Amino acid sequence: MIAPADDIDQIMAVMALAFDPQFGEAWTRRQIEDALVLGNCHYGLVMEKDCCAGFFLSRFAYDEEELLLLGVIPSARRNGYGAQLLEQFLAGARSRGAARVLLEMRRGNRAENLYRQFHFTQIGVRPYYYRSSTGDRLDALTFACQLQQDYTAND
Ligand SMILES: CC(C)(COP(=O)(O)OP(=O)(O)OC[C@H]1O[C@@H](n2cnc3c(N)ncnc32)[C@H](O)[C@@H]1OP(=O)(O)O)[C@@H](O)C(=O)NCCC(=O)NCCS
Repeated sequence: MIAPADDIDQIMAVMALAFDPQFGEAWTRRQIEDALVLGNCHYGLVMEKDCCAGFFLSRFAYDEEELLLLGVIPSARRNGYGAQLLEQFLAGARSRGAARVLLEMRRGNRAENLYRQFHFTQIGVRPYYYRSSTGDRLDALTFACQLQQDYTAND
């Protein structure tokens, strides 16, 4: 998916605010550009007035789509933007023929509440996968959701 430079600017502005530097989860502009040039990566933005409040980045492969990044700026959180982005992601994955969607998150990330509302369930764990800037080791949890269902939260 080719992204206009403006969209990448907006993604990077959100990236700078949304991800806790303690965990080193933010991607560089180069990483985003390289991913989007590949053709199997997709993104979506959510706007609040004229500003970008959040984005997602995903990668489609064969019959699965992985959510690589999902971020909303702190000042716009708990307004439903994360859920809107997840809905965009799921609709895109479905339109590309994905049978399953996947994501990986740090154990303890409160985003888990959001994912569970969308019927994601935990399918795996990578013990001590993440290392924080303070040296703590945290598990990575893999979540998946089959796409034969309706994606609306709270069904
Ligand atoms: C996770 C994130 C994208 C959620 O964005 P958001 O716009 O606040 O999400 P929403 O407002 O759509 O939340 C929908 C629901 O998810 C749950 N939820 C979202 N954030 C939550 C939190 N911090 N604590 C508890 N529940 C939360 C709630 O049930 C919420 O509904 P409610 O506000 O009516 O209670 C945002 O907090 C973020 O950018 N976090 C930092 C980056 C990150 O960790 N991304 C995920 C990587 S796996």
